[in-house]
Amino acid sequence: MKVIKEKQEMRSWSRAMRKAGNRVALVPTMGFLHSGHLALVEEAKKHAQHVVVSIYVNPGQFAPNEDFGSYPRDIDGDLQKLQPFGVDAIFNPFDLYERHSRLNTSANGIAGSHDTKGFLQSDDSTLCEDDTYGQEHETWIQVEKLSKPLCGQNRPIFFRGVATVVAKLFNIVEPDVAIFGKKDFQQWRVICRMVRDLDFAVDIVGCPIARDFDGIAMSSRNVHLSPTDRCQALSISRSLREAAESVTECEVSAQLLVEHVRKAITAAGGKIDYASIVDQETLKDVREIRAPVVFAVAAWFGGVRLLDNIELQPP
Ligand code: PAJ
Repeated sequence: MKVIKEKQEMRSWSRAMRKAGNRVALVPTMGFLHSGHLALVEEAKKHAQHVVVSIYVNPGQFAPNEDFGSYPRDIDGDLQKLQPFGVDAIFNPFDLYERHSRLNTSANGIAGSHDTKGFLQSDDSTLCEDDTYGQEHETWIQVEKLSKPLCGQNRPIFFRGVATVVAKLFNIVEPDVAIFGKKDFQQWRVICRMVRDLDFAVDIVGCPIARDFDGIAMSSRNVHLSPTDRCQALSISRSLREAAESVTECEVSAQLLVEHVRKAITAAGGKIDYASIVDQETLKDVREIRAPVVFAVAAWFGGVRLLDNIELQPP
């Protein structure tokens, strides 16, 4: 398992694999891996001879008031977890936004701290203002409509950051196929749309949500939940399951189903960001469940924002 830090080395490695007639799969992650990520790796192996896992906490998708600084990180633990999975390469760049070579780098990365936008600020006093990451990077990919609802309402720059970093990863790794989880349903749809609209030569595969034994959707952020919050957060997956059951028993009213889920989560002490039943392609709200749709929820428990969703399948 090769750990690659430099873009150029990553690209050369990947090109060599493809030149030899093999397919390369990419699993983009922000690390602090759990079984959900590892399931994506297993899926990747079905689609390609070589699997690359990228581990990079992308500052471009965090707003200043978000948890970039406290996002959990454990690169050594991640490498250990990946070891038995037959991954060929880990792409773990110090930073993907330019200005690298001009910075004062240390063995552990770049000297400096993150500014309020989450971009790295250098401690190197020889750099002038124009050299800051945020200022030097000025190209962003905006998937216009799909980025607006659901997570986009309260995180207006999030999908721009995700789409841009995924496009950068596609350009660096040049994978034949990339694997994404449907836990982040909107993210998966945004990436599919970007690939289609911009003609990326990458197949996108979506994987089902991996859940813990108690039903909670696995997430790197779950580590920040206290035992009580975690127990109360089960109201999300439980109420979504109940909604899906009601649909199989012929309930068609989106409003009723949303009310049920909202009540259950609020009663458990959660703060709802959104609870919406949407068309799987357009992500627009539906009023009645007449075709397969997705019920997507984001809610806060004890300062942790959790996402979950379930497909609603009318009988
Ligand atoms: P991260 O949250 O680390 O997730 C990496 C991938 O794992 C995503 O495709 C996500 O949907 C998937 N995933 C996470 N939890 C899952 C679960 N319980 N079941 C199935 N899949 C799961 O998503 C990101 O990182 C970033 O936004 C990224 C795409 C890497 C861009 O920075």
